[in-house]
Amino acid sequence: MDKDGIALPGTPERDLLELVLPDELPQHVAIIMDGNGRWAQARNLPRVEGHRAGIRAVRASVETAARLGIPTVTLYAFSTENWKRPALEVKALWGLAKNFIDAELDTFKRNNLRFRTIGDISRLDTSVQRYLKRAMTATAECTGTLVQIALNYSGRNEITRMIRNAVNRAADGDLQPESITEQWIDDHLDTAGTPDPDLLIRTSGEFRLSNFLLWQVAYSEIYISQVLWPDFDAAEFLKATLSYQKRERRFGGLSSEPAATAAPSGESSV
Ligand code: FPP
Repeated sequence: MDKDGIALPGTPERDLLELVLPDELPQHVAIIMDGNGRWAQARNLPRVEGHRAGIRAVRASVETAARLGIPTVTLYAFSTENWKRPALEVKALWGLAKNFIDAELDTFKRNNLRFRTIGDISRLDTSVQRYLKRAMTATAECTGTLVQIALNYSGRNEITRMIRNAVNRAADGDLQPESITEQWIDDHLDTAGTPDPDLLIRTSGEFRLSNFLLWQVAYSEIYISQVLWPDFDAAEFLKATLSYQKRERRFGGLSSEPAATAAPSGESSV
């Protein structure tokens, strides 16, 4: 440990686990998985091998979150912009998504993990949609950690779809302007029913949001890991959690204590 209580690199996973405060866990961890291509490149492998290795890291983060009892984990697997990648890489990514479901569905059920996607899956190949829906249905009753995979997702696309939905309802006379509150918006985004991420992790040392959960990360604590995604293991997840537990969260106020009264409109200050 260094003087601020942050675990030093190389600390064994078991020791890190003991440092985690069970009463101060993030309730929702969102992850921008970055660096698969660079990981593969460094090994003279095709980029897709980086994505394949990335699946191991997905498993490690999900397992660690479940072990800690973190209620929600959201992973950014395929953005609406990722269609611009070479066709072979896109095809491989969807193949990996299907393999992931095939390989993990039983484990999810056995460990009481619920699977859900966020993003516009209506635009995906019908066979992929079938896979995703099967996994969601099969785990719908699970009450443990919710694992949300962002597929064909971007924050702007999610907000655009939510606004279209609102306008359509208003045109049908089912929605009045004053009914549109922050809560209404929360309830009509893909992430409806989950709290905003307390912790947003991005790997590979990049400082960007890349169109991920733009509405929801308003007050998230951000943790940038230098590690490339395929190397992001349980110990790295624990280090991110420990870093989060050292932060003072103010939500625009002056201390971590909840404000006595909210602003009249329910909008927060800076
Ligand atoms: C970013 O790395 C990673 C992605 C665009 C895809 C992430 C996908 C996986 C880990 C596999 C699929 C996962 C699931 C859960 C189905 P990059 O390729 O942009 O890396 P680079 O910046 O080094 O090129």
